[in-house]
Amino acid sequence: MRFAVMASGRGSNFQALIDARARGELPGAELVLLIVNRRDAQAAARAEAAGIPWEFIDSEAMARAEFDRRALALLRECHAEAVVLAGFMRLLTPEFIEAFRHRILNIHPALLPLFPGAHAHRDALAAGVVESGCSAHFVDDGVDTGPVILQQAVPVLPDDNAETLAARILPYEHRLLPEAVRLLAAGRLAVEGGIVRILPKK
Ligand code: GAR
Repeated sequence: MRFAVMASGRGSNFQALIDARARGELPGAELVLLIVNRRDAQAAARAEAAGIPWEFIDSEAMARAEFDRRALALLRECHAEAVVLAGFMRLLTPEFIEAFRHRILNIHPALLPLFPGAHAHRDALAAGVVESGCSAHFVDDGVDTGPVILQQAVPVLPDDNAETLAARILPYEHRLLPEAVRLLAAGRLAVEGGIVRILPKK
């Protein structure tokens, strides 16, 4: 499975995919391209260091539909069969999602369907939950509403702020996302009635 990653910033989840690949944990999955939408995205330096081709599409300079058209053209050029959103902080158009239906994964720092959107940690703290976590899920037309693939619960501690909670959850994201990619590449994810079923090993 040839897959591309889209990222907006730090890129630690992208790095987790590079590292998992290097350890041989993603058999049959080839990381063929990184697309960043911000000029200052640290993810690009990680791609450079790992020898992975990367492209910058300036999301500030164009409308969403144009951004997605250009991204789709790049993905087709490199024959990507799946797309992994790793801290990609933009919504995609229905056209983009349709082109890769059930082939786009995202990592989100909360136990979906709770706390979707860009402020998951802040929202979890404001709700006073005693645990949050992270979710790897398929992307659909909504904001973090697609079928959940894997989740990991992580405790919220009384003195947490958004930064401490994010730091506690992040290492679990780094395990969950490569695991979801591994399952997708192995053909072990089926979506039935909006629910993901993890198929047994062949
Ligand atoms: C991660 O915590 C990811 O779950 C979150 O952004 C961070 C990116 O970190 N994504 C979202 O909140 C999406 N709604 P990274 O750039 O170091 O991977």
